Amino acid sequence: MGTSKIRNASDPAAIEEAAAIIRHGGLVAFPTETVYGLGADACDPLAVARVFEVKQRPRIDPIIVHVADADSAHAYGCFPHEADALMARFWPGPLTLVVPKTGLIPPIVTAGLETVAIRMPDHPAALALIRSAERALAAPSANRFGYVSPTEAGHVAEQISDQIDLILDGGRCEVGVESTVLSLVGGRPCILRAGGVPPEALREILGNVEWSTGPQSRPEAPGQLSRHYATRTPLEIVSEGDLRAEPGPGERVGLLTLTVHRHAARYAAVEVLSPSGSLREAAANLFAALYRLDSMQLDRLVAHHVPEHGLGIAIMDRLRRCSAR
Ligand code: TXA
Ligand code: MG
Repeated sequence: MGTSKIRNASDPAAIEEAAAIIRHGGLVAFPTETVYGLGADACDPLAVARVFEVKQRPRIDPIIVHVADADSAHAYGCFPHEADALMARFWPGPLTLVVPKTGLIPPIVTAGLETVAIRMPDHPAALALIRSAERALAAPSANRFGYVSPTEAGHVAEQISDQIDLILDGGRCEVGVESTVLSLVGGRPCILRAGGVPPEALREILGNVEWSTGPQSRPEAPGQLSRHYATRTPLEIVSEGDLRAEPGPGERVGLLTLTVHRHAARYAAVEVLSPSGSLREAAANLFAALYRLDSMQLDRLVAHHVPEHGLGIAIMDRLRRCSAR
């Protein structure tokens, strides 16, 4: 297979073509509101195996199953009653629910776990693809394992275009960070990964919600690996007033900052995530900014802390994993 075709995701013929590829066991990269996914028929173990190969993803890392409505979610997972209010409020949207799986889901999807992660994406092309294929899609982010997640079709093409069948181009992803992963298995609801639905919003429905406290490497949610979402160029997080990280003489340093920074001129490249300081806008721009900075052969990257509330929690989570060496 050569370089895969990129087709416009709003073209119904492209959706039909992508759906046929899925039904025949192929792989399609498609836009969601969070990041681009690399989709395969969730009930086809061979197709899902190819997803692991293309991503070079360890087989112990389970994959999210994407559905087009809450009803079909019940075919793949056994949802406790508290899921109803969560689905009503957050689906379609960036909330993934982990629940006991049904027999329809092959073990390769869940890395052998008895639980499955399910979400309904909030993107017309993703929903059209699932409906047209008449399949649930097992889809991790469409990047090589460990690297920054793609928020534009070009990011996907750069990394894996020669190994997949089609890329549906839906422009930039609106949310820009992956879904929040919430476990509804055993005891109280527990956040396994910070993401597009902030914990404050979950608390409005659930009251209190716990955070996973297991060791960083526990395979239950390997998106929690301490090093992940990582640029090739080393990245350090500092508070905005900290001058120690500023570029030395002759050093080419890239800066990732929320709003305009008064020492910006000292940097070889500057990415302002949101001139108005909006954490929502910053999340949407985060990964594309990291791709640009990482393509510039800089000596190192400096990222300024952002406030840790709302989407700032997911932004800081991704930056910390990117900076871990
Ligand atoms: O927004 C998203 O969630 C994107 C788009 C494409 O939907 N997908 C995504 O997939 O981020 P991925 O594979 O990059 O991350 C999936 C996360 C991982 O942290 C994985 O460990 C966790 O979901 N996960 C999947 N199944 C699980 C399960 N049964 N139990 C616990 N965690 C699970
Ligand atoms: Mg990922």
